[in-house]
Parts: sequence; structure tokens; C-alpha cells
Amino acid sequence: SLLRDDDLTQETRDLISSLPSEKGWLVSQMYQFQGRWHAQALLQGLLLCQKHFEAKDSDIILATNPKSGTTWLKALVFALINRHNFPVSSGNHPLLVTNPHLLVPFLEGVYYESPNFDFSKLPSPRLMNTHLSLFSLPESIKSSSCKIVYCCRNPKDMFVSLWHFGRKLAPQETADYPIEKAVKAFCEGKFIGGPFWDHVLEYWYASLENPNKVLFVTYEELKKQPGDSIKRIAEFLGCGFTGEEEVKEIVKLCSFESLSCLEVNKEGNKLPNGVETKAFFRKGEIGGWGDTLSDSMAEEIDRTMEEKFQGSGLKF
Ligand code: A3P
Repeated sequence: SLLRDDDLTQETRDLISSLPSEKGWLVSQMYQFQGRWHAQALLQGLLLCQKHFEAKDSDIILATNPKSGTTWLKALVFALINRHNFPVSSGNHPLLVTNPHLLVPFLEGVYYESPNFDFSKLPSPRLMNTHLSLFSLPESIKSSSCKIVYCCRNPKDMFVSLWHFGRKLAPQETADYPIEKAVKAFCEGKFIGGPFWDHVLEYWYASLENPNKVLFVTYEELKKQPGDSIKRIAEFLGCGFTGEEEVKEIVKLCSFESLSCLEVNKEGNKLPNGVETKAFFRKGEIGGWGDTLSDSMAEEIDRTMEEKFQGSGLKF
């Protein structure tokens, strides 16, 4: 599992022993490295990835905070860039029989779970995803001309999505953790994968400074205007569209309704790391946080968001 520490190298153990650590929700101990709080396993993935990953100019990296639309973005961009090999309307599209996480490798996850995985064998253009901060990306991703598509989501929805996902993933570890405490830690940034705010802002400013390198999209705009968002992504990746019909077909194939009903995404199907594919499909809505957060918790996140995003032009 990506949350355990059974397979750490001595190098990781040595590094970890020198890092600031905190008790947290979901993982009992988190470690601060390059400004973010990590579980041990993904920290090792990060280190190996920084050391060994060699980006190519043609690579496409999907970057997200967890629970911000990763699965959806993987499906959309996979369908988009492969639409000539795998016509979307063909009826035997890979997405109909494979969970998106198995079609698009998770960089630091693979480096932890299968350090011998050969990234050079992936078909070109290579499509991969990461939760790493912009700062922590392997140098070659930053210095090459590879493209980064970043997807962000309203923090209240993202938090609530992670809250439910985490409780499914580690019921025992999370059972007694009060949600008020988790909200506070999330806002303060002392939260697994956090600070959420800095992750978003780093990519946001990079997208403004270097629009050919980083494209910033939101879960909300994908939901409200999926066609326009896909065209924007296609243009950014240099594979613009000719037909409206094709756009509509991609939107439909990758919709929550379509993917979540497939046999491969139903009960009983697991990723190699043991996580049920079904866990990646819960509600798929904007503003669903209301059933989990109290008014005061929502206000706390809103207040933090206003403070952190003030002056950035970023809004939810
Ligand atoms: P909810 O828990 O709010 O339902 P990630 O893929 O980054 O792990 O994020 C998971 C979130 O995206 C979950 O949100 C999940 O339901 C939602 N999701 C997954 N596939 C989706 C799709 N095709 N369209 C819209 N939302 C999707």
C-alpha cells in the first residue's frame, strides 16, 4: 500500500530520521520535505522519481492534488491523445475495459511500488500523472519542453472527497479522528500532501508565467463546460479538434455516469496497490461538501482560501 512503510530503502530511512515529522490524519506519521507533508512510501517514490525520471519533450504530465479530478483528467486526456488509435465511438475503447489509473501511470507511486518499471517503454507521447508540487518535480520535467496540465478543485469539495476516500482506505486509522481537527490541519497545511494552498498557487502562477508549459484547469469548469475545456486542453497539447461530434463523444465516454457504471469500476476490482477502482467514483458533483462539513468548518476553509488566494486572481 502507498500508505505503509514495509519497503523503505536505507536512504529513505536516513532522510526521514532527519525530517520534521507530525502525527496526522490518514497516516500516523507524516514527514516534511521540500515544503510538503508526505507519507513515507510516497516520499520514497518522490526521491526515486527525482533521481531517475528522465522527461522527454513530448511527455504530458497531469498534475493534481489528490481528489481534485485526477481520474477524470486521466480519462479525458487519454481519450484525447489516443483518439486516432482508439476512435472514441468504436465501442471497444480501452477506457471501457480498463480503469484510467491503469492506463496512465502515477509517477511517484510507480517509483515506490515498482521501482524497476521501465518508463521508456510507454508509447509516445507518454502520459503520466503526479501529485508532486511544482517545486519537487524532477528537474528534467521542468527543463524539458514537456507539457503539464494541472487540475484544481474547490478545496471544500476536495477535502470532503479525501475525507471519505481516506476512511475507506484506512478505516481503522481514521475512525476516531475528529473531522474538525482534520479541517483545522488542512487549513494550516499540516495535512497529508499539504499545504493544499501552496500546491495550487505554485502551478497557478507557473501557468500565468509560462502558458505554453502549464495549463491550469479546474474540476468545476470541466463539469460546467466539458467541451470547451477539452478543446482548451487539446489546443494546449497541440492536437486541436476538427469535429464537435468527437468532443461530445469524449465528454460522454469520460463522464462520471459512464465510467462509474462500467464493470471494471464496480465492486470487486482492485488496482495492484489494493485500492478498489470503485473508490475513485463517489458523487462526482460540485458543492457536495454540504453533507459532510458543518457551517463553521466550511467557513474556516473559505476564510483560509480567501486569505491564501488573495491577490492571485484565483477564485472558487
Ligand atoms: P467525490 O468524492 O466528490 O465524488 P481523484 O480522481 O483526484 O482521486 O478525485 C476523485 C473525485 O473525482 C471524486 O469526487 C470522484 O467521484 C470524482 N470523479 C471521478 N471520476 C469522475 C468523472 N468522470 N467525472 C466527474 N467526477 C469524477
